Amino acid sequence: MNDLPCPILQCGVLHGAYHWIVFHAPHVTADALPGQFVHIRIGNSPEHILRRPFSISDADPDTGELTIVFKVVGAGTELLAKMKPGDKCDVMGPLGTHYWVPDDDVYPVIVAGGYGAASTLFLASCAPLPGIVFIGAKTKSDFILLDEYKELGWRVEVATDDGSRGYRGRVTDLMASFTKNFPANSMVYGCGPAPMLYDLVKKTDKIGIRCQVSMDQHMGCGVGACYACVIKVVDKDSPEGWRYSRSCKEGVVYPSEEVYCG
Ligand SMILES: Cc1cc2nc3c(=O)[nH]c(=O)nc-3n(C[C@H](O)[C@H](O)[C@H](O)COP(=O)(O)OP(=O)(O)OC[C@H]3O[C@@H](n4cnc5c(N)ncnc54)[C@H](O)[C@@H]3O)c2cc1C
Ligand code: FES
Repeated sequence: MNDLPCPILQCGVLHGAYHWIVFHAPHVTADALPGQFVHIRIGNSPEHILRRPFSISDADPDTGELTIVFKVVGAGTELLAKMKPGDKCDVMGPLGTHYWVPDDDVYPVIVAGGYGAASTLFLASCAPLPGIVFIGAKTKSDFILLDEYKELGWRVEVATDDGSRGYRGRVTDLMASFTKNFPANSMVYGCGPAPMLYDLVKKTDKIGIRCQVSMDQHMGCGVGACYACVIKVVDKDSPEGWRYSRSCKEGVVYPSEEVYCG
């Protein structure tokens, strides 16, 4: 894992508050795997001292091109959205654990919400066979990357909280309504808001499908030194039945059976 200044090659607006950036970051793309993230120092002013974590949305080891997709939510992402080709950021990575890339006899199922669809797109592009992706959003204008999944040959099903597009309600309920059609050798991958992921863990456990989830937390160091990013994981040896796990190092991708939902 390295930390190097990386020039922006291309950037743009996906739609609304969502932007994309392609960095030249060969030290990241050389061995990046789906589900991993980069920790980016966006600027040097006081509000930008802390790095910000972003999922790797695509990584091409031949060209060194690293793509991230992000939503503007605060000072760091606001500054990132203003950057232009040629500007540089320090990019540390690849960091964290990764999704298990399915074999060609496994049916991959993705459940994503918000920027989670950017993280799982890298997985979709690495999977030997296309599967089905369920994407949830508050309303129809919040969706990102639907066409990109379709171009990879994936079946796309959508849910909105307000019913303005697709299924009205939780994306995890939509996924659950499809499970009887999934082949026996299916694997579910989740990335999105924490309540969605905990619901996914419970549902896949009940149905009996293997699942991995990206448990993104607020982060400090990103490399296991500060404990800002802990989540509770199952620990049968502790009296409570759980222990804290640094999601930046032992995660961010966890097998669902390790995630403590109590
Ligand atoms: C492993 C990982 C991967 C991520 N991948 C992406 C990605 O691909 N695209 C993307 O748009 N965002 C991603 N995020 C979230 C992203 O890191 C934050 O949105 C970003 O750090 C906000 O920085 P800011 O300075 O703009 O906002 P801040 O001023 O730091 O915060 C603005 C608001 O965003 C909230 N926020 C900050 N960090 C998080 C977080 N981790 N989870 C939920 N809410 C947060 C704050 O509570 C606050 O309400 C990821 C986070 C993690 C941990
Ligand atoms: S962010 Fe510092 S230990 Fe995880």
